[in-house]
Amino acid sequence: MAMTMTTMMLKPTSPIFILQTKSLKRRNFKVFSLRNPETSSLGPQALVAQFDPKIPIEEAITPPSSWYTDPSFYTFELDRIFYRGWQAVGCTEQIKRLHEFFTGRLGNVEFVVCRGDDGKVHAFHNVCRHHASILAYGSGRKSCFVCPYHGWTYGLDGALLKATRITGIKNFVENEFGLIPIKVATWGPFVLLNMERDADTDLDIVADEWLGSSSEVLSNNMVESSLSYVCRREYTIECNWKVFCDNYLDGGFHVPYAHKGLASGLKLDSYSTTICERVSIQKCVGGSGENDYDRLGSKALYAFVYPNFMINRYGPWMDTNLVLPLGPRKCLVVFDYFLEASLKDDKAFIERSLKDSERVQMEDVMLCEGVQRGLESPAFSVGRYAPSVENAMHHFHCLLYDSLIK
Ligand code: FES
Ligand SMILES: [Fe+2]
Repeated sequence: MAMTMTTMMLKPTSPIFILQTKSLKRRNFKVFSLRNPETSSLGPQALVAQFDPKIPIEEAITPPSSWYTDPSFYTFELDRIFYRGWQAVGCTEQIKRLHEFFTGRLGNVEFVVCRGDDGKVHAFHNVCRHHASILAYGSGRKSCFVCPYHGWTYGLDGALLKATRITGIKNFVENEFGLIPIKVATWGPFVLLNMERDADTDLDIVADEWLGSSSEVLSNNMVESSLSYVCRREYTIECNWKVFCDNYLDGGFHVPYAHKGLASGLKLDSYSTTICERVSIQKCVGGSGENDYDRLGSKALYAFVYPNFMINRYGPWMDTNLVLPLGPRKCLVVFDYFLEASLKDDKAFIERSLKDSERVQMEDVMLCEGVQRGLESPAFSVGRYAPSVENAMHHFHCLLYDSLIK
């Protein structure tokens, strides 16, 4: 009888499944496989429970592959992780001047951020109140938003200024049809949004909620206000957004294997990780040779801000990586580069540095896409941690668990 590859591999009697189950059961781990029919129909809450944050890293198993592949889990985590708390979405550079705006999407939330007539930063759902058209596209400068569909017009404060062709309409109160606001705040050069309606936008509270006790370390050692904005690079990657984060959080483990060029400019045995509430900071001493030394400088700091934002400081550079989920197996990573002001006109240095950085990103893209394919394979259900280096990754998984059970 013909048996498809999938049915064959789905069977819980498959040698791979039994092997993995046996070896992990010996250690009293609860083991599940996404490909196991008994668990493949579990809802998101049951999938969350498959990771146990109380198990110490030495004995812990990673979250199951379903966290990285299951569409219902993806919808669930958008709600629990991205639609709650402060989320980085862009840079103040994008809205430096009056009337500048940028748009974006976080999960299913379409947003527009702008600097209004009053000089204040505003954010709204970027959805027309007439028939739901996306209102503004891309970024730029405008004194009002005119809907491309039927011309309803909104001010930069969100007020509906003009509703077209409404002659004869009844029970319509124009000022009840303004754009729906989103809570917005800035911290240093970063723009943050919070989808919760009652979020407090007081700067100290935002800093505390977003960065906790690391806000001082970050503002003193990493995010100097004197840095100049250089450019943006974007990478669409065929992997779950958490795969990219995990890759970032392995304490430099993959660097000597996968980034041989980068490894030669870093003293990898100097890697150390500090974990705070929602931030982990990896440090590494840089520079073995004089030639590549200038891009990486004498030390590198890599801060991960839960859930999806990375701030990297090395030599005269700072770059940030924003990992935006685009679906269970797709994400967009946005790199913004900042440089010490004294070097901002050194075109050759900038070009060389960006090229080096691009090479590292392409190496990471390959790794992450390879991991995603492995996670989707019936051969894998859960993995293990390297306790001496992967503690920031374990911490990330524990934070995810905390958000998901709330
Ligand atoms: S959808 Fe915007 S004016 Fe009709
Ligand atoms: Fe990497």
